[in-house]
Parts: sequence; structure tokens; C-alpha cells
Amino acid sequence: MHIQIEEQIIRPARNIYGSLRLPGDKSISHRYGMLAAFAEGTSRFTNFSTGADSASTLSCMEALGAKINRINNEAVRVTGVAGVVTPSSNPLDCGNSGSTMRMISGLLAPQQGDFTLVGDASLSRRPMERIRKPLEAMGARLTLTDGHAPLMIQGAPLQPIDYTTPVPSAQVKTCILLAGLQTPGTTIVREAIRTRDHSELALRAFGATLSRSIDSVSITGPQTLHAIDAAVPGDISSAAFFLCAAGLFPGSALLLDSLGLNPTRATVLDVLTALGAHISVLNLEEKNAELVGSVQISSPHEGLGSTTISGALAAQLIDELPVLAAIAPYTSGGIRIRDARELRVKESDRIDLVVKNLRAMGAEVEEFEDGVDVPGGQTLHGATIDSGGDHRIAMAFSVAALRAEGDTLIRGSESTAISFPEFFSLLDLVAER
Ligand code: S3P
Repeated sequence: MHIQIEEQIIRPARNIYGSLRLPGDKSISHRYGMLAAFAEGTSRFTNFSTGADSASTLSCMEALGAKINRINNEAVRVTGVAGVVTPSSNPLDCGNSGSTMRMISGLLAPQQGDFTLVGDASLSRRPMERIRKPLEAMGARLTLTDGHAPLMIQGAPLQPIDYTTPVPSAQVKTCILLAGLQTPGTTIVREAIRTRDHSELALRAFGATLSRSIDSVSITGPQTLHAIDAAVPGDISSAAFFLCAAGLFPGSALLLDSLGLNPTRATVLDVLTALGAHISVLNLEEKNAELVGSVQISSPHEGLGSTTISGALAAQLIDELPVLAAIAPYTSGGIRIRDARELRVKESDRIDLVVKNLRAMGAEVEEFEDGVDVPGGQTLHGATIDSGGDHRIAMAFSVAALRAEGDTLIRGSESTAISFPEFFSLLDLVAER
């Protein structure tokens, strides 16, 4: 598919002011879409992610026999295959979505038939060994292309495993759990750092039983899933761009309604608080075991302070690190990021692009293999930003541009559609100029 490269100009702002309700969480939408398509019965979702990534999950599941009915932009009805997919004669196109490719592999490995999974140029560079290893240990037959997609699966019955993930990854954990769901016996996934637990919560919401300890999840298969109706909470990783933007201006006041506040995802609120932002959480409630609430943020008069992000924090904040690095020059004491080597194998090498683009805006920054040091107290100027076709880089530097001197051109701005097509129009709504 040919994608038109687009550009967007971001003008400096004075303030971020207003209230927004954000589209549904991408991680939860992938899981609800995939599980509903595999379950018995018809599920209905509202506030489903409007991004291209979750659409990739739905179209793969449709190609495997599920019925997908888009009611409108954010409402979808999914009728599942009741545990048995129909192999597709065409390759399953996962687009730009690592979550789709890694999670669906676990779902398909124990099914009958042959499956080929492909992705775009970025996804075809991303590491897939991390799912091949555990799935092969379960007896699955998987062929990669030099460690990457295209990926071929010859489905077959599997055996359970007890597996410790070498790199913290919710996608890998989910891949194994989805294979374990269909495999007689108990499959255990252990992780040294707890990753986002949406799969565990979603599997339970769809009627599965699993047990959890501090560092492991066990599932005994085979189990059947049943349809649910759910409203997807607002995406906190999308919210992070607006929260960081608000943090840049002492006069900002922003309210984000009905956000997902799952503790394995909400660490950005702790970091912004540590930087001095004033954050309150209102109307907290639980929906299908996910915490949902509204978040109000304002910035201190003296501006944001400084912080270090490393260890488990870096893993939990992995999607928010680009925007935290992008606002770091405007803090008083800077931000130091370590233990984030995974950033190099996301949709782009995010360390490389953060460093290049900060420098293009005139910032001083030091690059490390696993992170960056960005000193505070800097003044940046508008520049041409290379997003590398990576949605989070495009959005992170749109936020940095709000406090730069002069206009900034974001190249590859169409990439925001991967997770957050409404980003630029919502930014215009709340950015006072
Ligand atoms: C995701 C997990 C993370 C994250 C990605 C979404 C998920 O990736 O970066 O954007 O939905 O499970 P890893 O599992 O590779 O850490």
C-alpha cells in the first residue's frame, strides 16, 4: 500500500486550556477486538480505538472468519468464531502493528491450518524471535525471515510451558497466554518486571480463569471465551502528549475525561507529579476490571523540575518516553532516561530520532545505548522534524514545538493515524495562541 507522506506545521502556543475526551485505548482495543473475534457470541464496543493499528487487528480477525461491523467511527460489533478460526488463503496484514502480529501468533499457533503474517516496512524490521522461542518451546512450528516478518505458522496442538520472558513485553506475555488458553494443561508466564496487564483483565472479562502472583500469570487450557459489551477507556498513552503539553505552560488547565488509569499504564502521572505538575484524579471507577477516571492537570508557576527514569519505570513508561524526552529541555533540571534499550526496536529507533530531532531544534542532548540525558533550562527553535513514519515521534515533537521559538514542520505527520488520528485537531482545540 502506498502511503502519502504529509506535513504539519505547529505554531508556538501560550497555554493549554480546556477539556477533552480521548479515543479508546489502543492496547485494550487490540485485546477486546481479538478476544471478541475468537469468542462465542457477539460483543459490542464503544469508544473503540480509532487508530489504524487496532483496525489491523480487526481486519486480520475478519480474514480469519470473525464478523466485524463498524457501527460508526468508534463503535464496533464483533461476532466471534467460537474458538475455531478459518485459515485465510491470503497473508494476514498486520500493517504497522507489533501488537497485532505478536499477539495473533499465539492465538493461531494452536489452531489448524497454515498462516502467513506480514507487515509494513517498519514492522518487518522488528524482532520476532521473542515470540518464536516460547511458541516453539510449546511445540509450535514457526518460520521467520531472518528473525523478522514475514512469519509463517503451521498450526498444531501444543504443550504447556513455564516460561520466563527475557525482555519485559506485554505482547510476548499475551502471545503465550493466548496459546496457553487453547492448550491442555497449565501454561505459566513469569516476568521480572510487571508489564501492562490488559490481557489478564480482558481474558477474565471474557470469562476465562487465570491466576496471578506478583511475578507470574498461569492459565489452564482449554477454555472458552464469551462475548462482552464494553466501553473502552480513553488512551492514557495518547493523553500523555496533552498532559506533557499542559506541563509546559504555567497557565495551563486541562481536564481529560474517562481515561484508562490501569496502574500498569498510569506511571506518566507519577512522573509528571515528580516534575512538579499538579494532578488530580476524579470520578475513579472500575469497568471490566480496568480503572477509569478523569485527570486534571495544571503546571507550577516555576515550571517543571527534573527527574530520572530507569529500571522498571523505564519499562512501564516505554511508550511515553519520547514525549518526556521532548519536553525535557524546557524543565529546569532536565530528564535522564536509562534502561530503555527497547526504544531502539519500536516502530522506529526512538532513541536515535529523539536525539536527532532535539538537536534539529537546537537542544543539547547526550545519547546512550539505552537512553538519553537531556539537560534542562534550554531554549529551542522551530525546525523540520523527521518523524521517521513513527506516530509517537510525530506527536512528541508536535508537543516540543509548542514552546519553541518559531514554527516547526512535522514531516510524516500522517503517522499519527496509527494510534491517534484526531491528534492535530484536538491539539488545535486546546492550544491557546
Ligand atoms: C503494547 C506493549 C508494549 C508497547 C506497545 C503496546 C501492548 O510493547 O510498547 O505500544 O499493547 O501490549 P512490548 O510488549 O513490546 O513492550
